[in-house]
Amino acid sequence: MHIGIIGTGYVGLVTGACFAEFGVYVTCVDRDEKKVKSLKKCKIPFFEPGLEELVKRNIDRGRLQFSTKIKDAIDSSLVIFIAVGTPPRGDGSADLSYVKEVCTEIAKHMDSYKIIVTKSTVPVGTGKKIKEWIKEAQSGNVDFDVASNPEFLREGSAIEDFMRPDRVVIGAESSQAIAILKDLYRPLYLIETPFVITDIETAELIKYASNSFLATKISFINEIANLCDAVGADVHVVAKAMGLDRRIGPKFLHPGPGFGGSCFPKDTKALLHVAKAHGVELSVVEAAVKTNERQRDIMISRIKGVLGDLKGKKIGVLGLSFKPNTNDTREAPALYIIAALLDAGAVVQAYDPVAVEDTRKLLPDVKYKNDAYETAKAAEALVLVTEWNEFRNLDLEKIKKAMKEPNFFDLRNVYDPEKMTKIGFNYYCVGRNKRTI
Ligand SMILES: NC(=O)c1ccc[n+]([C@@H]2O[C@H](COP(=O)([O-])OP(=O)(O)OC[C@H]3O[C@@H](n4cnc5c(N)ncnc54)[C@H](O)[C@@H]3O)[C@@H](O)[C@H]2O)c1
Repeated sequence: MHIGIIGTGYVGLVTGACFAEFGVYVTCVDRDEKKVKSLKKCKIPFFEPGLEELVKRNIDRGRLQFSTKIKDAIDSSLVIFIAVGTPPRGDGSADLSYVKEVCTEIAKHMDSYKIIVTKSTVPVGTGKKIKEWIKEAQSGNVDFDVASNPEFLREGSAIEDFMRPDRVVIGAESSQAIAILKDLYRPLYLIETPFVITDIETAELIKYASNSFLATKISFINEIANLCDAVGADVHVVAKAMGLDRRIGPKFLHPGPGFGGSCFPKDTKALLHVAKAHGVELSVVEAAVKTNERQRDIMISRIKGVLGDLKGKKIGVLGLSFKPNTNDTREAPALYIIAALLDAGAVVQAYDPVAVEDTRKLLPDVKYKNDAYETAKAAEALVLVTEWNEFRNLDLEKIKKAMKEPNFFDLRNVYDPEKMTKIGFNYYCVGRNKRTI
């Protein structure tokens, strides 16, 4: 089978490379010429473990190719995935202009039956719109089906998530489209991946409901962490005991500076927008968003509370990406925290194993360093924001020696409070502070 993928970002490239690995012939298209040029040379434009090898292997075997022209992905393909961005507009709604643009192009070049599948996260009702947009832009009357196949992969473990997902969701109106998509996903069917086959609207909503629920879980534990700090309880023990209840589960109960990334912040807001448009109140999701924004502010106030006036004070920041194993800094808590510290007059020095170049463009006033120890040098505080593995086993004596004042803000609870205090740090974490703040 041949398939086309329009939009070769995180989702499009991982999807394309993984389907090629399954033996499917894939053409990935992106309008970004620079990106396509480097992909043809097997240069991956972002950091994702294992992806370069996968892309290279499938280019070499002739199953994966790249182009800037949508036509190239349509001519020989039966299935065309749309994987372009759906960024938030000012009012929180999802911007569907890239999706619409792609639909118009597909319609122009389509000369035989195709299934147009949205992998992009799109609001409920987009499937219907796609059908209309394609019909409007078609010159002839070529038959096609529209389907929704939301993607649940996580950056940093994207290949594993695609190859061994918890479920595959397919929403479509026609049984032909469902049969073809099931056939495409046969390798996953064979390893007993659960398939949810439903209508397009339900499939579209599943993605938003899932992300909003996970975001809510994070905000919930962050609020409990703040209460733990106030009453002298340990949030790790609370979360562990909660997670042992199988109705709750242990995942997404890690307190921190709030969620970021390219999905949760935008998808929660887009869901709220859709609900409002339909006159439905989603007060739980609304609270999760509000709590998340407040959590970042609490972290900033905590640093200011300890250091006092930040003017001229040197602060080291460890970790810039929104989570480990990615260079994605979209909505990263570190960026908000650094911007607030700079605003208050602090001198910020920072390090991240892979996200420095991306951050430099957004925050040029930060002094970027080569490792954690350089970042700690002469600092009056060190703030660990992203829990990269290399920050989990730091030489803490060396860190303390390098610092001017031993104020350690561990926003991911990587270290043991007792051990840190013993070493001589003024140690501040999230929900395990036992009345030290
Ligand atoms: N990143 C994730 O972890 C993730 C996970 C699940 C779902 N999603 C969803 O998948 C979608 C894509 O996300 P992403 O992170 O891959 O975005 P991305 O920004 O990394 O990639 C989008 C790509 O689409 C290209 N593009 C835009 N308009 C185009 C056009 N008209 N023709 C061809 N290419 C075009 C852009 O150049 C870009 O390379 C979004 O809706 C997102 O919400 C993302």
